[in-house]
Amino acid sequence: MKGRWKKDRDVEDAEETMSDIPTLTTKRLQLRPFRMDDAPVVQELAGAYSIAAHTTDIPHPYPDGAAEEWISTHAETFAKGTGVNFAITLKEKGTLVGAIGIFIKKQHHLAELGYWIGEPFWNQGYCTEAAREVIHYGFEKLDLNRIQARYMAKNPASGRVMEKIGMQREGTLRQSLHRFDSFEDAHVYAILREEFEAN
Ligand SMILES: CC(C)(COP(=O)(O)OP(=O)(O)OC[C@H]1O[C@@H](n2cnc3c(N)ncnc32)[C@H](O)[C@@H]1OP(=O)(O)O)[C@@H](O)C(=O)NCCC(=O)NCCS
Repeated sequence: MKGRWKKDRDVEDAEETMSDIPTLTTKRLQLRPFRMDDAPVVQELAGAYSIAAHTTDIPHPYPDGAAEEWISTHAETFAKGTGVNFAITLKEKGTLVGAIGIFIKKQHHLAELGYWIGEPFWNQGYCTEAAREVIHYGFEKLDLNRIQARYMAKNPASGRVMEKIGMQREGTLRQSLHRFDSFEDAHVYAILREEFEAN
């Protein structure tokens, strides 16, 4: 009973602080803090093998409770200044289509961008539109100097997103990712503040 009470308190605290995470708006999207009631959709969309296979940290199969646990970390991550997670939703209907976040090393004014879009919503420009806005937010509001991203060589769609948002390819970290019993090459892309400001 005590544990149950603590869990509920933690969830309430998390939801209070999550309201501090900003909401960003683009032409078609609203990027907002995740809410606990997003968890079933996160589990369904991120639970697809096509998402797990191209990311490093998303479990597969996606266990019950894992989405809630993940969402409950967002408030503290934001409060500590180590990262910001956004739910990518369609502005008109509110449909949750994916997730995007940046994970920050304050000392270096550096962040790493990560994202996924549920497979039914691929190739409609949603990731590019969300990533552009998050890059803008990172440089304008978070005092970043560099935003970088990595993708598995077998996942060219993600590389295309990085190109479209103005990142430059810097190289390949050969076999730097181990996923599902396979060593994967990762291509590294980044955009610097001066490049962002020049455009
Ligand atoms: C990568 C991912 C986020 C892209 O999301 P999305 O909303 O479909 O992306 P966009 O529609 O903004 O852009 C996709 C681009 O990739 C291109 N593309 C799609 N499949 C491709 C392929 N097999 N080879 C090359 N380009 C491809 C699309 O044509 C589009 O480019 P274009 O606008 O020049 O035509 C999505 O596929 C995904 O979630 N994949 C699984 C998880 C993942 O890879 N996360 C990123 C880890 S680094």
